[in-house]
Amino acid sequence: MGIGYSGNTASEYPHFMLKEIMEQPRVLEETLARSITPDKKVELGTGLKNEELAGYRRLLIIACGTAYHAGLVGKHFIEKAAHIPVEVELASEFRYGQPLIEQKTLTVAISQSGETADTLAALRLAQAKGSRTVAITNAVDSTITREAHGVIYTLAGPEVSVASTKAYLAQLVTLYLFGLQLARARETLNEREISRYVDALEALPGQVGSLLQRARELKEPAAVIARGSHAYFLGRALDYAVALEGSLKLKETSYIHGEAYAAGEFRHGPIALIEEGIPVIALATQPSLAEKTSAVMEEVKSRGAWIMGISPGGNNSISSLCNWFLDLPETEPEFAPILAVIPLQLLAYYTACARGTAVDTPRHLVKSVQDK
Ligand code: AGP
Repeated sequence: MGIGYSGNTASEYPHFMLKEIMEQPRVLEETLARSITPDKKVELGTGLKNEELAGYRRLLIIACGTAYHAGLVGKHFIEKAAHIPVEVELASEFRYGQPLIEQKTLTVAISQSGETADTLAALRLAQAKGSRTVAITNAVDSTITREAHGVIYTLAGPEVSVASTKAYLAQLVTLYLFGLQLARARETLNEREISRYVDALEALPGQVGSLLQRARELKEPAAVIARGSHAYFLGRALDYAVALEGSLKLKETSYIHGEAYAAGEFRHGPIALIEEGIPVIALATQPSLAEKTSAVMEEVKSRGAWIMGISPGGNNSISSLCNWFLDLPETEPEFAPILAVIPLQLLAYYTACARGTAVDTPRHLVKSVQDK
């Protein structure tokens, strides 16, 4: 079970967060085994028939925190695979708005705990506006499972650490599978394309496992980040969505002000924050955007930033700009978030350990945020 830790009872790991990070290959395997039939068909058991799925004109994803970040990744794949517009809304904002929800909108509420007050209120508002709703949750018998019209369970198992890790990965793979089921129902992907994606999904548990074998390597950049009080995460498109999750993990576990920026946007002001030695974590997993991201990396490097880079395929134009570089296994660009988030989860974990914070029970935080 990886990197010098044997067995998987909590006592084998110093913290639930590390235990839950290490469980992710199994979580992916079980989710895929539950959802892919022997003839490579995706059956998620949403309770929604393909005819109904084919009839929707818009998807609305509502969620908070890490679940919201999963929704941002889901949007990219579902729009590409199923050619349906996807809006992703912060449930804590959505619930107090006057949303215009058109007919034929399917609302997907994502919540690990199934008890987050903001997400429940947003779900009720969407339903009151006439939208069908599906909940993606990790908690059987939670309130959201009783209120949503359909439910998709993530199979992450109980998540104890406040900082969500394995539930996020389970949400990502579930959204990918939902995108494939939608694409089949809407006939926007052919059998060959679907099976190419299914093959790539089925390779992910092994690829995540090989990344976890190198977990201790993240102690080096963590030591650099732990010495400071700020760190900036940069990425374009899907990488920006993952950068948001990476910076949240760092904030909530190590109390360091991690901030994520869309790499192109960074030059329109925030780059003024760059000083000698300030850590910048740059994600470049999208082949079509890597060159554009390396251009921004050059700019922050020339201003003295200390750069940690994450990119697949030994991309020299990226690795040559980095003080610390991690080479990711190759996968379909759409699925790169599943691999790219692993070093960011470990970076947050080892930074928190270096700063001696309460890793599993960070100050001011609870696992499920209720209304006051
Ligand atoms: C993530 O690490 C945090 N614990 C928090 O942002 C969390 O994702 C958010 O509160 C949503 O929780 P839920 O998925 O249980 O609804």
